Amino acid sequence: MSRCSVVIMLALWLAWFAAPAAAAPSYVGTEGCKCHKTEVEDWLKSPHAKAFEALSKDKRSKGQNKALRAAGLDHNKDYSSDEKCVGCHTVGFGKPGGFAAGSADENFKGVGCEMCHGPGSEYRQLHKEKDETFTRAEAAALGEIYPPKEDTCRQCHDHKDSPFNAKTDAKYMFNFEEMIKLNKAWHKKYDLQFKH
Ligand code: HEC
Ligand code: HEC
Ligand code: HEC
Repeated sequence: MSRCSVVIMLALWLAWFAAPAAAAPSYVGTEGCKCHKTEVEDWLKSPHAKAFEALSKDKRSKGQNKALRAAGLDHNKDYSSDEKCVGCHTVGFGKPGGFAAGSADENFKGVGCEMCHGPGSEYRQLHKEKDETFTRAEAAALGEIYPPKEDTCRQCHDHKDSPFNAKTDAKYMFNFEEMIKLNKAWHKKYDLQFKH
């Protein structure tokens, strides 16, 4: 190795360590992802977009009330501010920028984009600045989850803290391979427009 390349490597190493650490990513809410028009449109039709409503007494369906009774919960109760429930039915509850119990902000209601793709404050900037030229590794370093895998879904599905896991009823068993094929679950699977 030439002396010159050693100097360059040292300089790069120093630049890496001296760079200010990126701010910890925070949640921006679904509005912050609206450039992805087609995904937003699909998502709005999915059960995930409506997940917050399942907690509100006056917005729940009969089927949901039935499910609550089967899980030993009070179907007459409004759970929309209950800290034991909102974590899996909103965006980023209890985390920086995320949903606050009792908040009326629609932007953080339901299982929004960031619950599968990670808190967006930092990678959103990258998307804006570099558009189609950013790399997967750059985005991942800023907190982006892509593609979401089984463990992302399992933070909520068939989780021991959910009243609706396989112990409540076998129908809540989460089969990732099957579920991921369902368009209704999240949004259609579009091919990425650019190679990242
Ligand atoms: C650990 C995550 C988690 C927590 C905590 C949680 N839920 Fe859910 N909830 C889910 C998931 C996942 C589903 C979807 C289950 C499915 O359809 O497979 C769901 C579904 C529901 C449904 C619809 C059930 C149906 O069959 O239609 C209602 C109603 C509901 N939850 C209410 C609540 C209430 C009330 C609480 C608090 C007591 C709560 N949830 C806490 C994850 C959670
Ligand atoms: C329930 C989880 C989930 C939610 C919620 C979700 N996504 Fe995704 N998204 C996925 C998965 C899984 C993939 C990866 C598909 C694959 O394997 O290529 C994906 C892929 C993507 C892609 C890459 C292109 C594509 O469509 O395949 C974009 C862009 C995207 N999502 C944006 C969004 C936006 C914007 C929202 C909110 C409106 C959102 N997603 C909500 C699970 C989710
Ligand atoms: C933050 C928690 C959370 C995450 C993460 C999550 N989900 Fe969900 N999911 C829910 C809740 C809550 C519901 C119930 C919505 C309702 O019925 O109101 C639901 C509903 C669904 C349904 C509809 C169930 C039915 O019986 O109609 C499917 C399918 C699904 N999710 C698949 C997935 C997949 C696949 C992933 C991962 C790529 C995922 N979910 C990630 C919380 C989550």
